[in-house]
Amino acid sequence: MQSLTKIDKVVNLCSRRGLVFPNSELYSPLGGFFDYAHYGLAIKKRIVQSWWNYFVKQREDIVGLDGSIISSPRVWQASGHLENFTDPLVECKKCKSRYRADQLVRDELKLEVEGLDEKTLAKLIGEHKLKCEKCKGELAEAKTFNLMLKTHVGVVEDDSNAAFLRPETAQTIFADFKTIASFARKKLPFGIAQIGKAFRNEISPRNFLFRAREFEQMEIEFFLHPGKTPPFEKIKLNLKAKALTAEEQGNGKSGSMVEKSVEGLLKDNVIANDWLAYWIAEAWFWLTEEIGLDKEKLRIRQHVATELSHYSKETWDVEYDYPEWGWKELVGIADRGNFDLQQHQTHSKKDLSVFDEETKQKILPKVIEPSFGLDRLFFTALIDAFEEEGEKTLLKLGKSIAPLDCAVFPLMGKDNLDVKAREVFEMLKRRGLECEYDESGSIGKRYARHDEIGTPVCITIDYDSLEKNDCTIRHRDSGKQERVAITQLPEKLGA
Ligand code: ATP
Ligand code: GLY
Repeated sequence: MQSLTKIDKVVNLCSRRGLVFPNSELYSPLGGFFDYAHYGLAIKKRIVQSWWNYFVKQREDIVGLDGSIISSPRVWQASGHLENFTDPLVECKKCKSRYRADQLVRDELKLEVEGLDEKTLAKLIGEHKLKCEKCKGELAEAKTFNLMLKTHVGVVEDDSNAAFLRPETAQTIFADFKTIASFARKKLPFGIAQIGKAFRNEISPRNFLFRAREFEQMEIEFFLHPGKTPPFEKIKLNLKAKALTAEEQGNGKSGSMVEKSVEGLLKDNVIANDWLAYWIAEAWFWLTEEIGLDKEKLRIRQHVATELSHYSKETWDVEYDYPEWGWKELVGIADRGNFDLQQHQTHSKKDLSVFDEETKQKILPKVIEPSFGLDRLFFTALIDAFEEEGEKTLLKLGKSIAPLDCAVFPLMGKDNLDVKAREVFEMLKRRGLECEYDESGSIGKRYARHDEIGTPVCITIDYDSLEKNDCTIRHRDSGKQERVAITQLPEKLGA
């Protein structure tokens, strides 16, 4: 029997512990839709909290938005998504199975497919006589497929009232820009942040949460002032990351990836815009220092010209080196110029520029967009944190995103140990910690249960605790135990 890969094990853990699992399992899942249950939801909420705290609460130049999922179709016409938001599709002539042509070519021919157009993909499929994975039937010519999920608003179900579920949260920000700018009392440069659902009718949703049809994005559209530079003193621009430039990929030197500083890439004009460099550095810093992803597994990669989205002048992805899949996009940071505002201005025939008091000029700002996929990051954080030690499974999640701060156990559920443990549990909750009381099963089993969902610390109340008002703290990652006075517990746990 083939042994399970690390990713299989993480997916199994997700269903075994009910972190997240396919929607409609009772029937037949549609593919690409997922339900998060208690601990999964707790981890996801903490990622959201960390993101909002870092990018909105701690700053003075970003305000929030929670926009609607459905907008007027004119928004999507203006943004270019109705025309350009497509993937290449091939269909089996016999069984009608559908595949994303670029994924098929990459998987079957082991080729780099970034930026290949439909014609080239169709040529490769023809030349190599690629067949349907399911029935080995012949594949039809590759064609474009629009990824937006369609619905109807109102009582008539025809194209006159077709509407679309948003494929990115960004567009509500652009469409609302002028309104928000008028009451946010922010001068350029400033950003608008939004966390919310996005929908894409992915041709072949796969790789669990990595490519879903319904997912959440955490996006910032940062509107620039032409004369203002980034607050470089506040960000470690000299941070080093493994980097792959567009030029290196063009030279076929993808393998020669070396560490570079974001500052150096900016000085050498590889990154053309200083704010783009700034936001790459911010995204990197948050992923590594706040979420705690392993730096060694991350790199930044510049898009080659042919893979740029229709709105982008320059894009860098932060990519993660997934076990067995290799490097894939985790976060995208794009220089959208003023493409979107310009488009909305033209289509709505409304002036979307803002008046700059300092220069006494009207500005239609250019935009840098860091775009984070919440579910993709959740899954990546789990893969990054997953470890096995003998029979034990551990999720070594950073404290900021662990589902609980601690768990409190009485050694046994009797002799007043349970009463004392509950007192400690209530006290820690009052101090704002996320904790759980657990008295079922042996202590070893309770440790194992909590290691598996990533609880960083377990606290045990034993007979000595009744005498000395202390407890044992056991640390998930080292397995080390220490004796701590109960009065010192909140401080010890950072409450
Ligand atoms: P990919 O190249 O992997 O298809 P993409 O280029 O389509 O990704 P973007 O359009 O840049 O992705 O979307 C911004 C972010 O939204 C991505 O970095 C990712 O984190 C997230 N995202 C995009 N599509 C999906 C999806 N189908 N499922 C989960 N997350 C997604
Ligand atoms: N907002 C960028 C994207 O979703 O592609």
